[in-house]
Amino acid sequence: MAKIKTVYTCSFCGFQSPKWLGKCPDCDQWNSFYEEKNPARKNASKPADGPAPLALHTIAAQQDDRTPTGISELDRVLGGGLVKGAVVLIGGDPGIGKSTLVLQALTKLSETGHKVLYVSGEESARQIRMRAERLGRLPENVLILAETSLEQIDAHINECKPDMIVIDSVQTVYSPDLESAPGSVSQLREISSHLIQHAKRTDTATFLVGHVTKDGAIAGPRVLEHMVDTVLYFEGDRGHSYRILRAVKNRFGSTDEIGIFEMSSSGLIEVTSPSELFISERRNQTPGSAVVPSIEGTRPILIEIQALVAPSPLAMPRRTAIGIDQNKTSLLIAVLEKKIGVKLFNQDVFINVAGGVRVNEPAVDLGIVAAIISSRLDQQVPADMVLCGEVGLTGEVRAVSQISVRINEAARLGFKRCILPEGSRKNISEKHAIECISVTSIQDMVDYVFKLK
Ligand code: TYD
Ligand code: MG
Repeated sequence: MAKIKTVYTCSFCGFQSPKWLGKCPDCDQWNSFYEEKNPARKNASKPADGPAPLALHTIAAQQDDRTPTGISELDRVLGGGLVKGAVVLIGGDPGIGKSTLVLQALTKLSETGHKVLYVSGEESARQIRMRAERLGRLPENVLILAETSLEQIDAHINECKPDMIVIDSVQTVYSPDLESAPGSVSQLREISSHLIQHAKRTDTATFLVGHVTKDGAIAGPRVLEHMVDTVLYFEGDRGHSYRILRAVKNRFGSTDEIGIFEMSSSGLIEVTSPSELFISERRNQTPGSAVVPSIEGTRPILIEIQALVAPSPLAMPRRTAIGIDQNKTSLLIAVLEKKIGVKLFNQDVFINVAGGVRVNEPAVDLGIVAAIISSRLDQQVPADMVLCGEVGLTGEVRAVSQISVRINEAARLGFKRCILPEGSRKNISEKHAIECISVTSIQDMVDYVFKLK
């Protein structure tokens, strides 16, 4: 059979086909195929020269082999530190602060005696020096290599044998041996698998930095997600100074934790107490605002939900939600109309999570409901009150997890009252310095908070 010379690869998911296709059968993207030479390698069989298979129980355990990076928010997301030989992919929009984060981590690691190498395909060595100067002191033991050729990078890595490597960014690295264009999916895949093999073979922790592209025109790091050990996404709003580091995959820890940073004029600063940050600009005595003790991972974070309900000039009033799922907002509005009888059909409803964070937790439902009613009635939620609870379609308020942690955080920040689901009351183990009011339905909450009765 004749060997296939060219293949067509989907730039979105990497699906390969011998013919050009208008629509990818795998990921349903349109017009995403591009032509490339078949990157298959010669397949000569060789005698085994690597390590032989081992019985599972004879393999040495590697439990506490974590190296703290010195940046506690990064360690938290990694699951307690960097594991030897782990490959961590850091994705995020351009300019969000990925290079800054890895450079800060390397600086800290080099100070604790690790040999670290920063490979940059995007910036020159001088630019990196300028960035390091901006971050404060100039680290002495961070090796910088401005290089994009995989062969060269490989040679340098083998020569200087670092303990930790950063490749910034993996999309800029290319291998001239492969016939496809730099930045294409097959290049990205080959290069990453090469670097991953190196990391595993030599126990070198490796950070791969990758840009997320929205339209998938250039190969995004998504195709790498299944190959690496940990995938972190660095996100944030350009208009705001803080950034959130989120794990979407972690072979060495939980994916619930988030790390919070603030971008300052001298680099990223860890935010260890985020509640203060998110409710610091709250104005008391204003309708349309409710504070919710939310949980991100193991950490409670107080967030402020804001709502604006205003008469709509449109036949189809607007429902806009920022930081919260749009569908959830529509659903809660429908529950409110049906169960409480609040008229919203001729009102525009805008919901915003103050500070630009995104929350997915169901426990914020009650806060959203309270903020909407507060704005509609022009009656404020008492300034010393927080609310949490999941709202169901029949208007019931359902139990939420970790209620004690939430109450404690609210108490710590000076709140005096907490509205919580009746179902969660039994899980309150200790006595709190805060009054707990349990409700079973949103009607109970409205009766208590807005004193409609
Ligand atoms: P960068 O780390 O280059 O982003 P990425 O690698 O994700 O593309 O961060 C660039 C942005 O961060 C840039 O807009 C400037 C800003 N920045 C600061 O505000 N303070 C600083 O100390 C540094 C180094 C960058
Ligand atoms: Mg960068």
